[in-house]
Amino acid sequence: METLEAIRLRHSVREYEDRHIMKDIIEKIVDCGRVAPTARGEEPWEFIVITDKKALKEIADITDYGKFLKNSACTIIVCSKDTKYYLEDGCAATENMMIGAASLGIGSCWVAGDKKSYCEKILKCLEVPPGYKLVSIIPIGYPAKRQNPTPKRPLEEVLHWEKF
Ligand SMILES: Cc1cc2nc3c(=O)[nH]c(=O)nc-3n(C[C@H](O)[C@H](O)[C@H](O)COP(=O)(O)O)c2cc1C
Repeated sequence: METLEAIRLRHSVREYEDRHIMKDIIEKIVDCGRVAPTARGEEPWEFIVITDKKALKEIADITDYGKFLKNSACTIIVCSKDTKYYLEDGCAATENMMIGAASLGIGSCWVAGDKKSYCEKILKCLEVPPGYKLVSIIPIGYPAKRQNPTPKRPLEEVLHWEKF
């Protein structure tokens, strides 16, 4: 799928087909995160791919609004060294991977990491060393149903030329 189309058609997918995603496809998606913009060239991120069903359920149970991730084909955890711009960097990587997934016909949903009270619990569960922050949790999978993009505020409402 062409890039602009993938950006426009991407939407949160929370129901997945019970279908495996090939390893090379997962690697392609994570590679989109790897090349994201990063402040001061620090690349503070690490990406953990969880495919094991039991582990997926364990993580899902810890979250509040991410219970559906237990049914994902796999879930990518974005964690980042606690640098000045860890959040911006981690979010850029997150969105890159979601767009990459969409362009390959794979659905995803951003499940909150940073600021959630369950961050430490998830980091511990995944044996992430001290000094890292949980930025986001990204379940991915082939969408179980067709869905239109989520309506957003129109361009003329959000676009300001020259001044606010
Ligand atoms: C920082 C952030 C945290 C989010 N956390 C959750 C979450 O915990 N659970 C969930 O189902 N969706 C979560 N979402 C997805 C939003 O609900 C979704 O992006 C929004 O409703 C717009 O829909 P769209 O993604 O289809 O455009 C999160 C999105 C962002 C950017």
